[in-house]
Amino acid sequence: MCGIVGYVGNRECAPILVDGLRRLEYRGYDSAGLAVHDGQRIHVVRAVGKLRMLEEALVGSPLLGTTGIGHTRWATHGRVSETNAHPHVAGEIAVIHNGIIENHLPLRARLVKAGAKIVSDTDTEIIAHLVDAQCRQGHSLEAAVRLALKEVEGAYAIAVIRQSEPQKVVVAKNASPLVLGLGEGESFCGSDIPAVLPYTRRVIIMEDGQMAVLTSDGIRVTTLDGTPVEPAVKTIDWSPAMAEKSGFKHFMLKEIHEQPRAIEDTLRGRLDRENGDIVPEEIGLSPELATSIERVVLLACGTSHHAAMVGRYYIESLARLPTVVELASEFRNREAVIGPNDLVIAISQSGETLDTLMAAKIAKQRGAKLLALVNVMGSAIARAADAELYTRAGPEIGVASTKCFTAQIAGLLMLAIYLGKRRGTLGKERAEALVEGLAHLPQQMRDVLTGTRQLVLSLARRYMDARDVLFLGRGTSYPIALEGALKLKEISYIHAEGYAAGEMKHGPIALIDPNVPVVVLVPRDEHRDKSMSNLQEAKARGGRILAVATEGDEEARSLSDELVEIPAALSELLPFLLVIPLQLFAYYVADLKGTDVDQPRNLAKTVTVE
Ligand code: F6R
Repeated sequence: MCGIVGYVGNRECAPILVDGLRRLEYRGYDSAGLAVHDGQRIHVVRAVGKLRMLEEALVGSPLLGTTGIGHTRWATHGRVSETNAHPHVAGEIAVIHNGIIENHLPLRARLVKAGAKIVSDTDTEIIAHLVDAQCRQGHSLEAAVRLALKEVEGAYAIAVIRQSEPQKVVVAKNASPLVLGLGEGESFCGSDIPAVLPYTRRVIIMEDGQMAVLTSDGIRVTTLDGTPVEPAVKTIDWSPAMAEKSGFKHFMLKEIHEQPRAIEDTLRGRLDRENGDIVPEEIGLSPELATSIERVVLLACGTSHHAAMVGRYYIESLARLPTVVELASEFRNREAVIGPNDLVIAISQSGETLDTLMAAKIAKQRGAKLLALVNVMGSAIARAADAELYTRAGPEIGVASTKCFTAQIAGLLMLAIYLGKRRGTLGKERAEALVEGLAHLPQQMRDVLTGTRQLVLSLARRYMDARDVLFLGRGTSYPIALEGALKLKEISYIHAEGYAAGEMKHGPIALIDPNVPVVVLVPRDEHRDKSMSNLQEAKARGGRILAVATEGDEEARSLSDELVEIPAALSELLPFLLVIPLQLFAYYVADLKGTDVDQPRNLAKTVTVE
């Protein structure tokens, strides 16, 4: 986790670095810091807590200079303190780092024995001392970084500056993400594309085992052993405004409202409405592969795992392929049986989640075909895969994932239609109805947003003091219940559980009493009647029932304490509509409670640790 930024050029760099950190703060917010070279010396300012604490510190101690690096931390090694905040300094060197140095303990022991004064508990400070030691042997900064990294094992994206080489930032990468930005007379680096997006759209996505020297004249990339590399320069089509709040109070609220647009973009050019099909070139799977695979394995964590669970319903029902859903973080703890006849789909917003990346790599090593369903272009999972299918949700900044969830299930539904058509398991009429349904989905999502917002806000006011909330659903509504519970707990800190509605009677029903709101998802689909029975069971035990049902369902209205209505839709499309009021509910409860909605405690958006 952690976010890093760097700048070299002709402008004052501190505001640019702080701006970049603001866009990266979702990666961690335990502390933040800058190191800026003023032409003579390197000056460092660090502060514990959110970025605004660093900004306040900078008011008292402004940093002037046109070369600098900045960091926002999610603590791994060493508690949250100013001493452990980055940048770390040793002699002439200042370093920032995202990742984990695995052999830091033996390196630390060796450096201490040699007389190094190590002041923090971090693995990063070791890098600063190693580079400084090489510089003191007479090496340039670039050579010193190269030599120091030979001793280091683990994951890193680092940026380093040196007192006696004022107009230069040296960066290197292994396993942690790093993007370089090419400007006019200036160069940038950052952990993610949005960090550099306001300044340039021309980027280099660095590969593992590469390093680069950034100056105001440009960027020179080499491998870690010094071989020159001609990097591919990509032009990013995300606009800088996509990474702004655009008048919304929080990124999360903006991103909830962006979902119709995110779905439109994810579908764009991929639907063949004339033939009720998906455009083959757009899906990342050849027709041969679609017909030869014998099983689908979906790998993901967190919200992406809930999307995978929805995807399983789609693939099993439309393509009639055995499908398993794996928590990537657990997949690696088993001797999973996987082989060349499996299609593995790694699902990830960031494309950097370490558990998902490692699980995907294991599956690939065992011969499976690997498709990445990711949002961030050129991310590690995309690069590891045989093919990519991008969700085009745009940058997601709120730590709680919303628009990427619905974009992921749109991707999975398209895949299932494509597989079903190729495998002859999906009839013409159903395929046409699904493709038409997808084409109209963004408008239906807009209708749900405008139609439920006020009501959900008033429900949030009424239930914001609940201690526990249950969410129940059946079929595709079950993963939506899980997602509703996850959203509520991660941003409002209310204990919430999602259950398969049919499981209630096997235990969780004991939890129900008049103080426990029970959100029951009963849209009109093939499971509605059974779910209505579960709703009544919960009601009979005194639970307060908040139902989400299809418009005009009078029975649901009469049996529930509160009712949120969504439009009628094909059952495959209901998850897109059901999840919106649950996202809004979690958002409004959290906002009313005054929690930090976009950066909830203890979390980071991109989880690059195991
Ligand atoms: C929850 C949330 C997380 C992520 C999970 C996987 O709102 O955002 O549970 O879904 O950390 O992240 P990605 O999708 O980037 O692999």
